[in-house]
Amino acid sequence: MVVDAPFTVPVAKRSAAFDYAIRGIVAEARKAEARGRRVRYLNIGDPVLFGFRTPPHLIEAVERAMRDGYNGYTPAAGVPEAREAVAADFETRGLAVSPDRVVLTAGASEGIDLALSVLVDHGDEVLVSVPTYPLYTGVLAKLGARAVYYRKDPACGWQPDIEHIESLISPRTRALVVVDPNNPTGAVYTRENRLALLELADRHNIVLLSDEGYTDLAYNGRVSPLGSYNPDAPVISFSSLSKAHLAPGWRAGWMAVGGGARLDAALAAIKDMADGRLCSVGPMQYAVPAALNGDKSHQVEFLRALRERAEVTTRRLNAIDGVSCARPAAAFYAMPKVELPPGRTDEDYVIGLLRATGLLCVYGSGFGTAPADGYFRIVFLAPPEELDSVYDAIETFTADFLAE
Ligand SMILES: Cc1ncc(COP(=O)(O)O)c(C=O)c1O
Repeated sequence: MVVDAPFTVPVAKRSAAFDYAIRGIVAEARKAEARGRRVRYLNIGDPVLFGFRTPPHLIEAVERAMRDGYNGYTPAAGVPEAREAVAADFETRGLAVSPDRVVLTAGASEGIDLALSVLVDHGDEVLVSVPTYPLYTGVLAKLGARAVYYRKDPACGWQPDIEHIESLISPRTRALVVVDPNNPTGAVYTRENRLALLELADRHNIVLLSDEGYTDLAYNGRVSPLGSYNPDAPVISFSSLSKAHLAPGWRAGWMAVGGGARLDAALAAIKDMADGRLCSVGPMQYAVPAALNGDKSHQVEFLRALRERAEVTTRRLNAIDGVSCARPAAAFYAMPKVELPPGRTDEDYVIGLLRATGLLCVYGSGFGTAPADGYFRIVFLAPPEELDSVYDAIETFTADFLAE
């Protein structure tokens, strides 16, 4: 028997401030499906959804761990072999990190949450870019801290504006978020900009939160960890098996706290807080050494596929009247711009596109751009033939939308 609740339980105000548009927009897709529309989900960066397969040796490592009885809690910071594999992998990338400074996390996401939780108090400020990966702003809202937005320039392939960042630093600034290679833009930062970011963080004693999940997915060769340019700079890096190792659902990630003694207290606080959630998913941790020390040949084909899809995406989007798109240099995201008519928003465009064509993208304001600027993010993991039909549909819809 269903009884109508006489009243609802109140929800904490902070939950209203938490916004993650990449999944939030799915509610609109469900409505479109209920009306009979087939939806193509181009909102979330999950290569497995598009047929890219998790390498078999990772699956075997997890299966073996489960069969061998490694199903209990692990140490909160992770099993030693996984922490050692992460440290050894950093070493091959030019950064010496002790395994003791590595913590295994439920994806990079949990590492980001842990790091922000120990670094910022209510009212503190964290520098994040526009556009930003929305988890940062979501977690900051949850903590009652303030995201302070720095500019990136689409005309220069979405490079960060270093002068603007410096102008925003205040006594309350606690951290600077750098996602390189970048989601949502697909940008890879120049060496000059990386050095400038490190120099700023070092000089102002601000922690650099370096999101490195796409470093193996840059089309012109892998990107070095930010800390490798200056091991003394206060850098906390995050990564996972989600993207470059094609296992996003496993929630197998890690964080590494660099920067020496300056970040010792932060490391201790992160470990204390990690104790409270007991451990990240145990059997999946055994895939980390298998991934980092083992065969990575799947990345050759994955990168070839990404380059091809990025090419189709850039060519087709830039050929549409009223649309422009900076060429992605990594990963599987592009951030095109539509010249919106006055009074219309990016959300109007994206929801209109969904209703008219079944294509689900994410409006740019979900990543912090202004609604009137007309940005949206597209995930281009679908095969090139399917992408061609996607861009045909975007072209037709955009012409109608702009003519209205
Ligand atoms: C920039 C960035 N950071 C963090 C994450 C979260 O990744 P994970 O699956 O490792 O939690 C993503 C996922 O899309 C991402 O793009």
